[in-house]
Amino acid sequence: MNVCIIGTGYVGLVTGVCLAEIGNNVICVDKIKEKVDLLSNGKVPIYEPELDNFLQRNIKNDKLAFTTNISDAIKESDIIYICVGTPPLSNGQADLHYVEEVACEIGKYINDEKIIVNKSTVPIGSGDWVSMVISDSIEKNNKNKNVSFNVVSNPEFLREGSAISDTFFPDRIVIGSSSKKAIDKMLKLYEPIINQSFNWRDSERLIPKNTKIPVVISDLTSSEMIKYAANSFLATKISFINEIANICEKVGADVSKVAEGIGLDKRIGPAFLNAGIGWGGSCFPKDVSALSNIAGEYGLSTQILNAVVNVNREQRLKITQKIQNELKIIKGKTIGVLGISFKPDTDDTREAPSIKIMNDLVNLGARVKAYDPIVSAALGSLSKKVEICSSAYEAVRGADMFILATEWEEFLKLDYAKIKDMMRSPVLIDGRNYLDKNSLEKQGFKYIGIGR
Ligand SMILES: NC(=O)c1ccc[n+]([C@@H]2O[C@H](COP(=O)([O-])OP(=O)(O)OC[C@H]3O[C@@H](n4cnc5c(N)ncnc54)[C@H](O)[C@@H]3O)[C@@H](O)[C@H]2O)c1
Repeated sequence: MNVCIIGTGYVGLVTGVCLAEIGNNVICVDKIKEKVDLLSNGKVPIYEPELDNFLQRNIKNDKLAFTTNISDAIKESDIIYICVGTPPLSNGQADLHYVEEVACEIGKYINDEKIIVNKSTVPIGSGDWVSMVISDSIEKNNKNKNVSFNVVSNPEFLREGSAISDTFFPDRIVIGSSSKKAIDKMLKLYEPIINQSFNWRDSERLIPKNTKIPVVISDLTSSEMIKYAANSFLATKISFINEIANICEKVGADVSKVAEGIGLDKRIGPAFLNAGIGWGGSCFPKDVSALSNIAGEYGLSTQILNAVVNVNREQRLKITQKIQNELKIIKGKTIGVLGISFKPDTDDTREAPSIKIMNDLVNLGARVKAYDPIVSAALGSLSKKVEICSSAYEAVRGADMFILATEWEEFLKLDYAKIKDMMRSPVLIDGRNYLDKNSLEKQGFKYIGIGR
């Protein structure tokens, strides 16, 4: 099929590349020319494992192309994906102006029957709203007034850092629409993934051949709600285990053991039960507050979601308190930070817990030195106040303490004996309960974890 992807960020680029890989002709549109030029030359502007190989192979096979020319891309495609950002407004609502801009353009250039796929995470009801914006734009800007289209909701569940695998081996595919014809077309598009019949790297197949990926077909509204409910539930699990961790610290229990003990219960499951410095990233914070906001529009208060957000906010403050407990005075102290991205294997720093912690430390008068295997800038207002180092060793040199803020695998392999010698005092806060506590304590470190 001919597919157009509008917006080549983490979601659009991965979706486009994977749809090309399973045999479709994909044209990706972005309004940033430099990005389009880079991608056309086979270069990936973000860090996402394996993405560059897929990108280059599919450009070479003439299955994938990039453009800033949205009108031709729309006209030549059967299915048009909206994959632009929906960042949070200051009141917690999702900012839909990028989606609106794209819907207007679709209305302007649509020339025959199309399916419009909302892959961006959008508030409940946005499917109908996008239909309205497209119809209004057709009415205003398009001479072909009778052109027909269907809007489908197809929320994305990929995780940055494993986005390619998550797209080829998803836990489920959700398709929401009132049109049977549109749903059938989406099922046809995803058939190689649903039936696991694509050829890519059989040896690394994560689920057995002949397994069928579950597909949830629903109305538009339920599909939109599935995405918000999924992210809100995952954030709830993390805030829950962090609250348990804080109680563990007081009563002398080890939250890692507690998480293991409850996670083996199939009704609970082990995922998202790692206590730490809290959740961040480009999705959870904005999606939880957007859902809360939507409930507010209906006069509902979201007591659980509010608590989930509050626990997360306090969890970050607790790190600063732990540092104060240990160092007493922060002014004039040097603190190393290992890891900046909000999670490992991505360069995404949106709402990263490390940023808030570094900000607090700088404001309290500390000298902060940070290192991340991939992130070397993009710290906004912090960039002038934090020293970005070229290695973990540089970040801890002369430090009174270091904080592990992101669980990059590289940090497991460091020479901690060398680090101990380089630090002013061998104290660390393992903000992800990631390092080997016993081994570090044996080497003479004061190890401070979360809930243990
Ligand atoms: N990042 C994730 O892990 C993830 C996971 C699931 C869902 N989502 C959702 O997917 C959506 C996209 O997220 P993202 O992280 O890929 O965003 P992003 O900010 O990385 O990328 C958005 C892209 O859209 C482009 N764009 C904006 N307006 C445009 C226009 N009018 N025409 C063409 N291009 C335009 C931007 O230049 C940018 O390249 C969001 O709604 C997000 O909530 C993200």
